[in-house]
This record gives sequence, structure tokens and C-alpha cells, in this order.
Amino acid sequence: MILITGAAGFIGGNFIHHWFDKSTEPVLVLDKLTYAGNPQTIAAHLDAGRCTLVQGDIADRALVAQLLAEHQPRAVLHFAAESHVDRSIHGPGEFIQTNMVGTFELLEAVRAYWGAMATEAKAAFRFLHVSTDEVYGSLSETDPAFSETTAYAPNSPYSASKAGSDHLVRAYHHTYGLPTLTTNCSNNYGPYHFPEKLIPLMILNALDGKPLPVYGDGLNIRDWLYVRDHCEAIQQVLAKGRVGETYNVGGKNEVRNIDVVTTICRKLDELRPKADGSRYEAQITYVADRPGHDRRYAIDPSKVEREIGWQPAETFESGIDKTVRWYLDNTVWTDAVRTGAYRDWVAQNYAAR
Ligand code: NAD
Ligand code: TYD
Repeated sequence: MILITGAAGFIGGNFIHHWFDKSTEPVLVLDKLTYAGNPQTIAAHLDAGRCTLVQGDIADRALVAQLLAEHQPRAVLHFAAESHVDRSIHGPGEFIQTNMVGTFELLEAVRAYWGAMATEAKAAFRFLHVSTDEVYGSLSETDPAFSETTAYAPNSPYSASKAGSDHLVRAYHHTYGLPTLTTNCSNNYGPYHFPEKLIPLMILNALDGKPLPVYGDGLNIRDWLYVRDHCEAIQQVLAKGRVGETYNVGGKNEVRNIDVVTTICRKLDELRPKADGSRYEAQITYVADRPGHDRRYAIDPSKVEREIGWQPAETFESGIDKTVRWYLDNTVWTDAVRTGAYRDWVAQNYAAR
């Protein structure tokens, strides 16, 4: 079996669906169930008994040690993190605690467990760390895309805390020989994405008739990857990745924020036209920029393509179509996650903009 941290969140939850599309190997999920964690996302697999959820903190070393001893996983896949840049600007403490201290405590528990394994199991064991392209900082419009050798230059408390976790994982391989793998992926989008992030926020605000808040000039660029393509990359890196290596994962889909938003608007015009005949684009509102806003991210995925044989299946157009349709069809999920705490965050982040 495998142990996955943070699988009640967006990417981890999609990974559970992806895993059980192809595998019957059981999964143990360790998730703190913060505001971003939602057991409903993986309810079908929990109910079917092939997946078990333990609510707990990756920083609880004793709990992690107990789970490892009890379940004897052959791999640990580490998705758990505080993941939203804007929240890290308002309150960086949780990011340091979970992404750095939490990853350290998790690594310590895993190191002890792995160190005591029999020789064959020890050689086969993997610790896969899921990270982000944001650790590389910001690109100008003409800079080459991030490769695995690009120097780390994180700019937000979020990306700095992820960079710290990447360095710890690297050190545990280099110093202790822990068989690690690290993936640094570009922006994901797709089903079960918490609606504080750009794409789901815009879809749901548009449908609610609310403003579509574009930060700054709207010309910041992100390299968008459909979440299932990321999940497939992680599964393949787990199976075929070279121990101690890092792999950049991206969809070669660089899109300006304003173009992301207008694409969503046009898709909604097609699938859910407004009763009064007006266009969703009329709801676009430019608001004050994010402090320290990274201008451009772009991933060079040639290493993962060459060594692992991974390729994305979705284009931005096909992925956005699937995503918008999913949000239109899954209002039970979207209504459930937009609780009082969600509304408090929206008020905190947007009221003063
Ligand atoms: P998310 O915020 O949707 O989910 C994070 C999950 O981790 C939640 O279920 C939450 O409850 C859990 N969690 C948080 N703190 C925890 C703790 N201390 N102990 C145990 N569980 C805890 O995040 P996501 O978008 O699914 O991102 C998953 C991983 O992928 C993160 O490590 C993130 O840095 C990385 N990543 C995200 C993106 C993206 O575009 N979303 C891109 C590249 C990499
Ligand atoms: P986000 O989804 O928060 O991801 P990240 O900051 O990790 O890339 O934001 C994606 C881009 O969209 C980023 O350039 C900030 C911008 N953005 C807006 O313009 N308006 C918004 O309301 C949000 C949440 C993001």
C-alpha cells in the first residue's frame, strides 16, 4: 500500500481518483482537513474501503511513525501543504509550520521507518515530494522556461516555504540516502479545485453574477496544466523516476491571466448563456495587484518527457471545457465548500482591493 499526505485537497484528491482508475493497491490518506481539505472529494473511494482517511497533521511525528509501523507502505507521496499565495501574504506562519516544519517532521518519521526496513523493501521504497514551479521565482517575457537546474529564487512566503521543503528533501537523500523523488509542477486546474484560486473563483463568481477580480494589469502569465495530467506524471515518476532526481512538470500552455478569464467567460456564454443576453466578460473588474506578484512562470518539461516518457493529454482548450462543465454539474460540492470560513476569506482578500 501507499501513504498519501494531503489527499483530501485538490491535487491529492484528483490523484486518488487517478490511482484507482488504474490500480487496486490500497491507499492510506493522512490529511489535517484544513479549510482546503474535503473528504467528499474522495468519498467514493473511502466508502468502497480501498482508501482510508486519517485526520492528522504531518507535523505530528509520533502519529506518522505509528501509521507507518501499522500500515507498512512501500511509498509515501507528499502532497500536504498550505498552497495559496494570497493566504501566505496575509499569514505566513501556517506556511512555515506545515510546509517546512511539517515536511521536516514527516521526513524524520519516514527516515526512521525506512532505516529499519529489510534490504529489498528498503531499496524499493520511495518518498515522492510534490512541489511547485514557484520555487524558481519570476520570469520576464523573454526568459527561457524553468529547467531543473534553474536557481531557486522564491518570492512569496508560499514559494519560500515550498523551496525550504524541497531543500530538506534533497538533503535527506544526499545525507541519509533516503530514496526521494521531487516533482516541480506548474499551475494546475480542473475538478475539485478550491474556489479561492483563479480558475474556479472566476467560474463561480461569473455564475453568481459577481465581479471577476483580475489583479493588476492582468498580463501575468502562468503555465496551466490539467490536474489529471499532473497526476499521471506523478504516477509515472513514482514508477520510473531516478532516485534523488527532480522533474519539472508542465503543459507548455502559457496563458495571460486576462486570457484565462475571457476564455472561461466565453465557455460560460456557450454552456450557460445569461438570461438577459449580456456577456460574462462584462463582469471583469481590474483590482489592486498582489504584492510581489510574480510576472511569469513557464516550465521546460523536456526531462520528464525524455526520461519518463510523460506527455500531457489535454490542451488548455480541452481542459477548460472539462473544468467548466464539471463546475456546472457539481453544485453540491461547490456549495458545500463555500462556507462561512470561505466567505470570510473572500472578504479579507478582496474588500480592500
Ligand atoms: P490544497 O490546498 O488544495 O490541498 C492541500 C491539502 O493538504 C488539504 O487537503 C489540506 O487539508 C492538507 N493539509 C494542509 N496542511 C496539512 C498538515 N499540516 N497535515 C496534513 N495535511 C495538511 O493544495 P493542492 O493545490 O492540492 O496542492 C497539493 C500540493 O501540490 C502542494 O504541495 C502544492 O504546493 C503542490 N502544487 C500545487 C499546484 C497547484 O496549482 N495547485 C501546482 C504545483 C504544485
Ligand atoms: P492563483 O490561482 O492564486 O495561483 P498562483 O498565484 O499560485 O499562480 O493565481 C493565478 C494567477 O491569477 C496569479 O497571477 C494571480 C491571479 N489572480 C487574479 O488575477 N485574481 C484573483 O482573484 C486570483 C485568486 C488570482
